[in-house]
Amino acid sequence: MKISSHAVARMLGTWQEGPGPAHQRLSDRLRLLILDGRISLGAALPSERDLGTALGTSRTTVGAAFRTLVEHGYLATQARTRATVRLPGDTAPRQPVRTDAETIDLSFAAPAAPVEILHAAFATALEQLPRHFERHGYDRHGTAELREAVAEWYQRRGLPTRPDHILITNGAQHALALLTRVLLSPRDTVLIDHPTYPHAITTFTQARARLLPVAVGSAAGPSPGSAMGSAGWDTEQLQAAGRVANLAYLIPDFHNPTGMCMSTSVRQRLRLACPTVVDETMTDLALDVPSPEPLALHMPTAISVGSVSKSVWGGLRTGWIRAVPPLLERVAQARPTTDLGTPIVEQLATATLLSEHQTRRSDALQHLRSQRDALRHALTEYLPEVHTLQPVGGVTLWATFREPISSRLAAVAPDHGVTIAAGPRFGVGGAFERNIRLPYTLPPDQLVQGIRRLARAEQALLHGATGTHTPAPIA
Ligand SMILES: Cc1ncc(COP(=O)(O)O)c(C=O)c1O
Repeated sequence: MKISSHAVARMLGTWQEGPGPAHQRLSDRLRLLILDGRISLGAALPSERDLGTALGTSRTTVGAAFRTLVEHGYLATQARTRATVRLPGDTAPRQPVRTDAETIDLSFAAPAAPVEILHAAFATALEQLPRHFERHGYDRHGTAELREAVAEWYQRRGLPTRPDHILITNGAQHALALLTRVLLSPRDTVLIDHPTYPHAITTFTQARARLLPVAVGSAAGPSPGSAMGSAGWDTEQLQAAGRVANLAYLIPDFHNPTGMCMSTSVRQRLRLACPTVVDETMTDLALDVPSPEPLALHMPTAISVGSVSKSVWGGLRTGWIRAVPPLLERVAQARPTTDLGTPIVEQLATATLLSEHQTRRSDALQHLRSQRDALRHALTEYLPEVHTLQPVGGVTLWATFREPISSRLAAVAPDHGVTIAAGPRFGVGGAFERNIRLPYTLPPDQLVQGIRRLARAEQALLHGATGTHTPAPIA
């Protein structure tokens, strides 16, 4: 399969930012795309010249990046043919399993929309919209309706909050990017949970920050099959790291990817010397434990970010920052270089969803529990050697293989009709090569099917990269 220069350029995104020579950044990015399965094994890359033109860089840079990939076994070249993607140690030509079935995407951790609830919220939003017609519609802080609804969401959680403590963003990721722009300078150090949310890693590294990972979860961990509850955050380690960091980024509520929740005692004791961003994207998804107290209740200087992406629907693209007004003013001032505000209709709909308490619906939580259970049963049945811990909330499960096969498994999985997120995406320095993150946001039958396909991919990998046996056709 040939892959066009424009498709590769799109996948590479902002590869030019970051330290080191351009050819090295390019080869690193291409290697990650291959290991993530986003550029399929066996795919023929565009010529050096075409890719150079699409990327606005020289043919020499692309040539040097390709040579590095060839040296490390990620590309095969032959005279007068396009370079093809392979894995180190993979000597035979690829024979992808043929399937007409649609690929099951286990790399995305987000639920489908609750259709009727969204219809009702948008109908209300459209009725309210004319209130805003007299003004221009640009508001860097967000509408009064949504700022009030978010402030009330915090009040219900026991954290006194006024609307002027809230700035509305286009999702939690946007909130994180805005805070990074305001709070970080090149070469600053950011304390992160390890593992953590991959787009946070990219956001900080693109701002040229250095990462200071602090492990979440003990090395031994709770016994297999037990719940991922309060284990995880080490107060002393966090505080020591906080003394040298310029910023901390924590996901204490149903952590992505492990599903762990920081215990109340750690919340009460934790004092970090640096500004701390608390990601509360998963807060409303408590499955087995009571909803956690906001970390800002114990750490009043904490800057919180949140959204309705996981509790309702990511397509709303609506989130927020909770902080003191002077910091929010700095964020608002920094905003116009990338955006001039959040769409009004989405804000009005989100305000209705929050004020009608639609972010903690018992039916949605029950669905998530049964999907999580289906995923865990499928793992026990089809991948029994994989070790998992029961996530107590959130939408993802962190699975551990016996062998360090995660990146190679992610690379071959699409051949078997499933995509996954490899463990190293959630860490730094190549860590988590034995882990993969599995979301339970799809219906149970698709989760079971996805795990069956993953088990076949693992078999193919362990019996030789191209499969020395004929895998059963994908059902
Ligand atoms: C921990 C965490 N933070 C932030 C985000 C981004 O959320 P949003 O869709 O609101 O931008 C995600 C999405 O996966 C997430 O898992």
